[in-house]
Amino acid sequence: QIRQFAYHQNVLDHYSNPRNVGTLDKSDPDVGTGLVGAPACGDVMKLQIKVGDDGTIEKAVFKTFGCGSAIASSSYATEILEGKKIEEAMHIKNTDIAEHLKLPPVKLHCSMLAEDAIKAAVNDYKKKKAQ
Ligand code: FES
Ligand code: FES
Repeated sequence: QIRQFAYHQNVLDHYSNPRNVGTLDKSDPDVGTGLVGAPACGDVMKLQIKVGDDGTIEKAVFKTFGCGSAIASSSYATEILEGKKIEEAMHIKNTDIAEHLKLPPVKLHCSMLAEDAIKAAVNDYKKKKAQ
């Protein structure tokens, strides 16, 4: 069975021209890394942030092995993360991402992956700083 739905242009845009694809040095004490997987489909997302002394996210990058919606969700996530404080980043909801990209209901879990990856990256950063 082939399931089809129309992708919104925001998804296609981020899928074809993903922003901020890349990797940051994990051993950098100012870098937080989040690596999460979606049990439903096996897709994997890695999202990293570099945080300045005042708690502002200076840079966000991602690598996603997954569907177009997951790639678009992580690309959009990196876009909105830059310039945010880490506490603000913790408040980003998957529904913010899904609404912006106009994801259909079957693709909501793809944006959930991005929310989880953001939280994982911030928590990793905080854990490093607490050491
Ligand atoms: Fe990237 Fe709107 S599609 S900011
Ligand atoms: Fe699983 Fe998109 S289909 S992350």
